[in-house]
Amino acid sequence: MNIADIALSRHATKAFDPARKIPAELAGQIETLLRFSPSSTNAQPWHFFIADNDAGKARIAKAAQGAYGANEPKIRNASHVVVFCTRAAMDDAHLAAVLAQEARDGRLPTDEARANQHRGRSFYVNMHRFERRDAQHWMEKQVYLAVGTLLLGAGALGIDACPIEGFDQALLDEELGLRERGLTSAVIVALGYRSDDDFNAKLPKSRLPTEAVITRL
Ligand SMILES: Cc1cc2nc3c(=O)[nH]c(=O)nc-3n(C[C@H](O)[C@H](O)[C@H](O)COP(=O)(O)O)c2cc1C
Repeated sequence: MNIADIALSRHATKAFDPARKIPAELAGQIETLLRFSPSSTNAQPWHFFIADNDAGKARIAKAAQGAYGANEPKIRNASHVVVFCTRAAMDDAHLAAVLAQEARDGRLPTDEARANQHRGRSFYVNMHRFERRDAQHWMEKQVYLAVGTLLLGAGALGIDACPIEGFDQALLDEELGLRERGLTSAVIVALGYRSDDDFNAKLPKSRLPTEAVITRL
């Protein structure tokens, strides 16, 4: 497998075939890509809602009306739709949960290792909470890493995808009860298989030239 071929062939899918579903085994791999996406200090400040049925997709599609209407059929016709959510706060309870998981997973064999890990993570978390005061922005950056991981991974699995920022965030937060769960929606990714109406599949890709975006030192 040449990873560059996947970067060159994947594209933002503009129309999905509603009859084609992602097989369960591949859907499981998608969940693994989400869960194992890297995040700064392994803080994992996210939650993913996945809809693989018409009722679930219809709830998400409510947020793609009016100015966002072009995205509604993508959400309805995709096989699976992922809503990427960011935590509203990086609180002590979440930090304790991450630390406990790392201990369960065998990464912190001694009390000293546990204390060091907590100290290191808290250093960065507190920097963003109290000094830079950009914790929300910092957490959302981590969420977007998971978007990138998913997009390339989907391409590798032969699954088409469309990332979607064009939706009514407040409406989706209300629909999914996100505020009550300490979450906010950040971005949606529709996944499935393109239909013949996917005009973007027929267009050449366009990117700025190498020299405009890469400087060799
Ligand atoms: C964060 C993000 C949000 C996007 N939102 C939308 C969207 O709301 N609707 C849409 O059709 N495409 C959306 N796109 C697709 C981009 O327009 C597309 O990725 C870009 O033009 C590059 O084309 P390519 O992905 O086909 O290579 C989004 C892409 C990203 C990364």
